[in-house]
Amino acid sequence: MDTEIVKIEVNNDVVNASALGEKDAAIFSEEEKACIAHAGEIIRNGGLVAFPTETVYGLGGDALNPESSKKIYAAKGRPSDNPLIVHIADFNDIYKITAGIPETAVKLANAFWPGPLTMILPKSDVVPKETTGGLDTVAVRFPSDLVAQEFIRAAGGYVAAPSANISGRPSPTEAKYVIQDMDGRIDMIIDGGENEIGLESTIVDLTINPPQVLRPGFITNEMLSDVLNEKVETDRAIIEADSGIAPRAPGMKYRHYAPKGTLTIIEGEREAVVAEINRRLEADKADGFKTGVIASDETIEEYAADVCKSSGKAGDQFAAAHRLYSILRSFDDENAEKIYSESFALDGFGAAIMNRLLKAAGHQIVRL
Ligand code: TXA
Ligand code: MG
Repeated sequence: MDTEIVKIEVNNDVVNASALGEKDAAIFSEEEKACIAHAGEIIRNGGLVAFPTETVYGLGGDALNPESSKKIYAAKGRPSDNPLIVHIADFNDIYKITAGIPETAVKLANAFWPGPLTMILPKSDVVPKETTGGLDTVAVRFPSDLVAQEFIRAAGGYVAAPSANISGRPSPTEAKYVIQDMDGRIDMIIDGGENEIGLESTIVDLTINPPQVLRPGFITNEMLSDVLNEKVETDRAIIEADSGIAPRAPGMKYRHYAPKGTLTIIEGEREAVVAEINRRLEADKADGFKTGVIASDETIEEYAADVCKSSGKAGDQFAAAHRLYSILRSFDDENAEKIYSESFALDGFGAAIMNRLLKAAGHQIVRL
């Protein structure tokens, strides 16, 4: 199939101006509006369109059409027991797809929507089981990205979208990665530039008491706890890799985000980590392997790897999250076989970074 690729850029000057109360200019040109309307029509006709969000690129289809959901699974090569997130662009649209909204959902929506938070809620009959992977619950997210919002509205209000990668690869954070994975498999790709956050949304399950985080993200447990006035825990299965417990978000059980080479995390004092990684690099090179390192701005000069990438200034969690998936993909592009990463602190957004990095490493971590 021919995949149409279009570029749509939000006019940020206008966004800022309208935040200041000036409303007359347009965020999209007439041509861009027509493009988004066309993308919406593709979805309403049962097709698939990849689109930008503030977290990662999504692979969208009509959430209320079972055939669209089946097509999404096929395009991604994803097991169909792994449910999709339904994206909306107006809070009131949540009532049609859910069966009863707890007070907690309203509080969290007021605090964090539109934004990088997904809520698990009981589903209504209009949501087909194909979209929810057979579950009686539905994941709902209202993204803040303005291209995403305009597109969701044009598509009829309910867009099912997993990350727009081939199953098992890192989520795409730039259109070029979507093109790598999805060109020829879907009808259209909307290129909205680099995603702002670069890691997938926080998923919180509100069907149980107390609420539980099933996938950590930019919205942290502390931020959720503050709004709800109760302690929000993380699903134990995703913290304890070897617990043998099944994660409550089916997707979290799959080996994900993994580069083709082996990835090992080395944790400890900075100097000891640099020394240990260099020792391993030397051995790997002697064995003829191509090597890679995820360093920081402070340490990047110290490694003798074939492919060395900085996750940003040490301690800059936003930079590290933003770069992680493109760094993992670059190791594949350059055929790195033995890859090492420095470790990240677990506080705040760090829990999400380490969750993804540990998954990419198949939980191989060496603590010095
Ligand atoms: O940031 C994001 O959430 C991105 C963008 C595109 O919005 N989407 C995304 O979707 O990451 P996906 O399909 O790659 O990951 C969705 C995760 C999976 O782990 C899935 O198992 C879980 O959400 N999930 C979806 N519906 C669920 C449900 N009803 N109960 C439990 N987990 C659910
Ligand atoms: Mg995904």
